[in-house]
Amino acid sequence: QVYDDYFFDEPAWNTHDGGYVPLEESTAPQQKLRVPAILEPDKETDTDMYYTVIAEEGETQLLPGPKTKTWGYNGALLGKTIVFKRGKKIHITLKNDLHELTTFHWHGLNVPGPYIDGGCHAPVYPGESSDIEFVCDQPAATLWLHAHPCPSTAQQVWHGLATPVVVTDDVEAKLPLPRNYGVDDFPIVLQDRNFHEDNQWNYQADYDPDGVQGKTAMINGTINPYIDVTTQRVRLRVLDGANRREFRLHFNDGLEFAQVASDGGIMPKPVYFKKVMITCAERDEFIVNFEGYHDGDEVALMSDDVPLVRFRIHSFAKDDTKLSERLIDDPELPVTPGTDVRHVVMSGMDEEVAIDGKKFEMQRIDARQKVGDVVVWDITNTNDMVGGMIHPFHIHGTQFLVVSRNGHAPYANEHGWKDTVSVNPDEHVQIKVRFEYTGVYMYHCHIIEHEDGGMMAQIESFDPEHPKTYKLMDMDTL
Ligand code: C2O
Ligand code: CU
Ligand code: CU
Repeated sequence: QVYDDYFFDEPAWNTHDGGYVPLEESTAPQQKLRVPAILEPDKETDTDMYYTVIAEEGETQLLPGPKTKTWGYNGALLGKTIVFKRGKKIHITLKNDLHELTTFHWHGLNVPGPYIDGGCHAPVYPGESSDIEFVCDQPAATLWLHAHPCPSTAQQVWHGLATPVVVTDDVEAKLPLPRNYGVDDFPIVLQDRNFHEDNQWNYQADYDPDGVQGKTAMINGTINPYIDVTTQRVRLRVLDGANRREFRLHFNDGLEFAQVASDGGIMPKPVYFKKVMITCAERDEFIVNFEGYHDGDEVALMSDDVPLVRFRIHSFAKDDTKLSERLIDDPELPVTPGTDVRHVVMSGMDEEVAIDGKKFEMQRIDARQKVGDVVVWDITNTNDMVGGMIHPFHIHGTQFLVVSRNGHAPYANEHGWKDTVSVNPDEHVQIKVRFEYTGVYMYHCHIIEHEDGGMMAQIESFDPEHPKTYKLMDMDTL
């Protein structure tokens, strides 16, 4: 079966929003896609890896003419790709070379909260650094690192503080998937920006409480990128790293492609698409088979009618590798007997956004869940279909399973681990959630302006045998 449908409710697509900024094809010359270098460890032993991640300011040649002032991790824009091998103990020095406070949030990583997780309770002040360590123990996946200081997450991500994180393991390593980084395996960070005078970004000028958008697509910090295809099969690790924009992905000629992984790793079965929509913070890994093309051909990955990445086909060796019907066993998460369904309500638009009728407060813990318990969460979006919007719901520090959408089966590509699930207006989505570690974790809409605007709450994962207290930041002391 090949899906030729974006699944999400058409009346709720961002195209219908009054403030929608359609993408426009840039007139800038095509450039080779930037492929971020892999961050080298400072030190490595059989069991431990040591890294330094630096948030810094710089400038980047994005368009002809003046360079754009940008921020990044260990680089001027976005950052290097950080690779963690499952089973290793990871030590990271987080260094802030910016002129303002930031935090380093590991989106999708199963780690204790709130300090290692790096949400708003883990500030690193300008000129300072802090150290974290954790054991990487989760399936191979494409995750990401981004800034998360409340309430300026959106602005810092817009400046460029977002970078791919890849977890590897022995299970994924045995699957017949391309994994030669930068050759047949590419991170694809989808974002959008507006360029103002002297090619600069201006977050304030473009501000919209329902999410900042730009008319120019930026992929891995490249405008009008192309990839030289030199192998028959290519793996794209797509991240929607935009503040607000959802991308409706398809190839210009209708080429079909397989999705093999979602946010938290490999899916039980590959799912074949001609069209797929990705919403903020989600990751989809695709395998594209260029079998039918020849040296000199070109095919483009589009969103709506705008090309995002062009694939320039070169000659390649024939590759008969087929994806099997089944990639991994179905993930299981049996609900803990005696637990109640947790209801979470996302409501409002613009400045009115809230969770359970309340705006986020750093000092308030909104819910508690026993560590290790599996609890069904029922997430409602009370927007209505007319003029409402899709809210991508994200939980820190864990990967969950999607159970149902309005009582029906989840979408075909929602049978694997997820950390972000988009909820249509007037829909309620049930998910099964377990925290493996104790801590305070945020959950929120990942339209980043909604998150900063208060559509966010926090839950404590607690161990009754070993109660803990946390130092929660106070917004007023920032
Ligand atoms: Cu991408 Cu609060 O997270
Ligand atoms: Cu997160
Ligand atoms: Cu939202």
